[in-house]
Amino acid sequence: MENISDAKIEELAAAARAVREHAYAPYSQFKVGSALLSGSGAIYTGCNVENASYGLTVCAERNAIFAAVAAGEREIKAIAIVTQSPEPAAPCGACRQVLIEFAADIPVILENTDGIRRIQSLNALFPMRFNLPKDEET
Ligand code: THU
Repeated sequence: MENISDAKIEELAAAARAVREHAYAPYSQFKVGSALLSGSGAIYTGCNVENASYGLTVCAERNAIFAAVAAGEREIKAIAIVTQSPEPAAPCGACRQVLIEFAADIPVILENTDGIRRIQSLNALFPMRFNLPKDEET
């Protein structure tokens, strides 16, 4: 698993906690905040945004990833996810697939609002990826 400093882990967790406050979750009441460290060293955040047409909901992790890509990033070095749950919650399968598009075996920092933190490697969370050849120009 790629290495990042304890200070960066704290910074990412704090950013994920903060953005979680902006989650729009009137249907599930399950607010999620996510913050990622990009290849440039910048931090990008996202929260879940639900919709009355439930299937249109977008998870916090994907919103953070898409914000990073929209800012010109192509690499993710670590990601933090904060939820209010008895145990820190792992990202859904769809978000894992989107994450590995831009990430190697990065640390995935899972935290709940009680401050319980677990760090999992992305390879452990998602051992087999669907892959296609890429044209790096686009
Ligand atoms: N959710 C996320 O934001 N990330 C995940 O990895 C799993 C689920 C959101 C979607 C929905 O708004 C709420 O949590 C309940 O599923």
